[in-house]
Amino acid sequence: MKQMILKVAGNLRIAENVWKMYLENPELEEQKPGQFVNIRLDGQFLRRPISVCDSEAGKLTIVYKAVGKGTEQMTRLLPGEELDVLTGLGNGYDLTKAGESPLLLGGGVGIPPLYMLARKLREQGKAVTVILGFNRHDEVFGMPEFRKIGCDVTVTTVDGSCGTKGFVTDAMPEDYSYFYTCGPEPMLKAVYRKTKTSGQFSFEERMGCGFGACMGCSCKTITGYKRICREGPVLEKEEILWAD
Ligand SMILES: Cc1cc2nc3c(=O)[nH]c(=O)nc-3n(C[C@H](O)[C@H](O)[C@H](O)COP(=O)(O)OP(=O)(O)OC[C@H]3O[C@@H](n4cnc5c(N)ncnc54)[C@H](O)[C@@H]3O)c2cc1C
Ligand code: FES
Repeated sequence: MKQMILKVAGNLRIAENVWKMYLENPELEEQKPGQFVNIRLDGQFLRRPISVCDSEAGKLTIVYKAVGKGTEQMTRLLPGEELDVLTGLGNGYDLTKAGESPLLLGGGVGIPPLYMLARKLREQGKAVTVILGFNRHDEVFGMPEFRKIGCDVTVTTVDGSCGTKGFVTDAMPEDYSYFYTCGPEPMLKAVYRKTKTSGQFSFEERMGCGFGACMGCSCKTITGYKRICREGPVLEKEEILWAD
C-alpha cells in the first residue's frame, strides 16, 4: 500500500451517472488488475474504495458511479485538482489460471476491474469472451474499449433496450476455460450457480479502513475469515461461503 497525491488529468461522464477519471503521478507504479484504490474526499470521514480500471506506470484510470455524497463530489473534480489516494490495495486477479479461453462477466460498475484484466489476458494471446450486463441502454459503457483490444463482447440489458435481453448468465457460451467476475451480489450468486469451471469473484463489500486494520469487511470462507480489503477483494469460487 502506498499513500500518494494523484493529479486529476480528466473526469468525463460516460453513461447515466457513470464517470471515468484519469489520474497521474510520475511516481505511481503499475497496479494489478483487480486491485483497488481508496480515495480521500474533503469533508468525508471514510475514504471511498474504487477499482483500478486500467493502469500503467504514472497513470491510473477509474470508472465510478455517482451514488452518494462521496462519488457525487468526485464528479465535480476538475483537471489539475489533486487527490489523496491509497494505492496498491487488495490481492487482484490471478491470471495464471485463465487457460486459453477465459470468460469475463461484469455487471454495472463491476465491469471496470475487468478491463485491465482483459487487456493483460489479450497481451498473453488468450481468446477472451466478455459479457457486460446493465439494466438499460443509457447505462451501457465499455463495449468499444473491450472490442478494441480484441475481446468477443456481448452486452445484456434487463429490459432488452440494448444487446441481448436478460442477465449476463443468459448470454454465457457453452465452452470457456475459466471465468472471472465482478458485479452486484445477486449477479455473483447467479454466476456461481451457472458456471461449470473454476473461477474468481471480486467482491465490492462495504469497507471501513480499506487496508486491513478494522475488520469491518471480514467475511467467512471455507478456509476461515478473510478481510475483503486485504485477502480479497478477489476470492476463488471454491472458497466462497454465501451468507444466505
Ligand atoms: C473493493 C471495492 C471496489 C469498488 N470499485 C468500484 C468501482 O470501480 N466503481 C464504482 O462505482 N464503485 C466501486 N465500489 C463501490 C464504491 O466504493 C461506493 O459506491 C462508494 O464508496 C459510495 O460512496 P458515496 O459516498 O458516493 O456513497 P454513500 O452511500 O454516501 O457512502 C457512505 C459510506 O458507505 C460506503 N459505501 C457505500 N456503498 C458502498 C459500496 N457499494 N461498497 C463499498 N462501500 C460503500 C462509502 O465508502 C461510505 O463510507 C467499490 C467498492 C469496493 C469495496
Ligand atoms: S475495511 Fe478495514 S479491515 Fe477491511
